[in-house]
Amino acid sequence: MRTEAFYGEAVADLAAKGGLRVFRQLNRQSSTPAIAVYTAPDGRRKAVTVWCSNDYLGMSKHPALIETMLRVTKEMGVGAGGVRSLSGTTDYHVMLEHELARLHDKPAALLFNSGFVANETTLSTLISRTPGMIVFSDKLIHASMIHGIRNARAEKRIFEHNDPDSLEQELRSVDARRPKLVVLEAVYSMDGDVAPLAPMLDAAERHGAMTYLDEVHAVGMYGPKGAGMADRDRVMPRVTIVQGTLGKAFGVVGGYIAASREIVDFVRQFAPGMIFSTALPPAVAATASESVRIVSRSGDLRRQLAERAERLKACLRAAGLPFMPSQSHIVPVLVGDPQRCTDICDLLLSRYSLCVQPIKFPTVARGTERLRITPAPYHSTAMMDELISALAEVWTELGLPFARRSDRREAVNA
Ligand SMILES: Cc1ncc(COP(=O)(O)O)c(C=O)c1O
Repeated sequence: MRTEAFYGEAVADLAAKGGLRVFRQLNRQSSTPAIAVYTAPDGRRKAVTVWCSNDYLGMSKHPALIETMLRVTKEMGVGAGGVRSLSGTTDYHVMLEHELARLHDKPAALLFNSGFVANETTLSTLISRTPGMIVFSDKLIHASMIHGIRNARAEKRIFEHNDPDSLEQELRSVDARRPKLVVLEAVYSMDGDVAPLAPMLDAAERHGAMTYLDEVHAVGMYGPKGAGMADRDRVMPRVTIVQGTLGKAFGVVGGYIAASREIVDFVRQFAPGMIFSTALPPAVAATASESVRIVSRSGDLRRQLAERAERLKACLRAAGLPFMPSQSHIVPVLVGDPQRCTDICDLLLSRYSLCVQPIKFPTVARGTERLRITPAPYHSTAMMDELISALAEVWTELGLPFARRSDRREAVNA
C-alpha cells in the first residue's frame, strides 16, 4: 500500500461525503470579543461576527487577564521548562490548584495541559489501576472520556443518555463487590442538555459507585459561584471527581480534576498525561487563577449569559428556525445533512460575514448534523437580530424546512 496516497484518498473521500472539518483562520480581537478578522484561503481578510466560540464569557479578552499574562511572562518567561516533577511546578501552578480545589469545595485539585488530557489520563489511570473496576458511562460522553475508558481496557457498560433508570439497571446487573465508576457530563456540548445529577448520584450511591463528572461546559457559568451544575444543583459533595477546563468560560487553557487528596495524589503519581508532559507556562497558570477568582465573583456575567441564550432561543422560535431543545447556553439548530450544514455556514460567512460552526459525524450521529450557536454576554441585540434574519434568508434560499407556524411564539421584543 502506498500510504501517502491512502491518506490523501481518505481525506478526499471525507470531503466528497461533506464531512470535512474546516479550520478557518479567525483572529478574534481583544478589543471586541464577538468580532474576528477572518483570513480566507486566498489571503483576503474581512471582519466577521463569531457565533461559535467557547470563550463563553469573553474572559480570553479580559483586560485584567491580559495584564496578568504579560506581567508574569515578564517575571518568569514564556515556558515552564519542564514537566511538573522536574522544574515545571511554580508558585502559580500550586496557587491555581488551591483556587480550583476551593472553587469545587474539594480537598485537592490537579492541573493538566487541557481538559482532554485531564479526562483521558485520569480515567485511563484510575480505571486500569483499580483492581476489578467496572465503568458505567453515559452513551453521549465526550471523546476524551471515551479514549480514557478505552485505553484502560477494563470492562464497561454504557447506559442510555441522561437516564437514571438505565444507569440503575446496569449497576444492578454486576457483582455488588466490584469497584465501580460512573462517568457523565454536566452539560452535553453538542445538544446543550443537562444531566439530571441528583437521580444519577442517587443510583450511584445505592450501588457504592464512585462518580466522575465532566463540568467542561458548565464551569464558570452555572451555580452561585460558577463551579458548575453540581454547584447549581447543590450536589457537589456527592460527586467523587469533578473535571473541568480552563479554556472555555475561564478563557485561558488547561484542564483539571478536583477530588479527595488520596485520588489527586494517586493520579499525580501515576497518570502518564501528568508525568510525561511539559507543564503549562507559569503565566498561563497565574492568568487562569485570576480568571477563576474573577468569574466566581461575576454573578452578573452568568445572568447576562443566561439572558442572551434565552433571547436567542426566543428569536429562533419566533422565526420558525428548528433549534433543538437545549437547557443551557449552547443552542444547536438541526439541519440533518452534512453538506447542507457546510452550505449554510459558507453562505453565512461569505454573504453575511457571520461565522457559525457546522457539527457533523463523528461528533454527532449521522442525520443529526447541526449548527452549534453559542451566544455570549458580548453579543449585542443588534448582532443577534442580524444573525436571525440571515439564518431565515438562508433557510428560505436553500429550501430548508421551517417549524410549523403553530409551534412559534410571539416575536420577541426583549
Ligand atoms: C465535554 C468535554 N470534555 C472535555 C473537553 C476537552 O477540553 P479542552 O478543550 O480543555 O481540552 C471538551 C472539549 O471541547 C468537551 O467538550
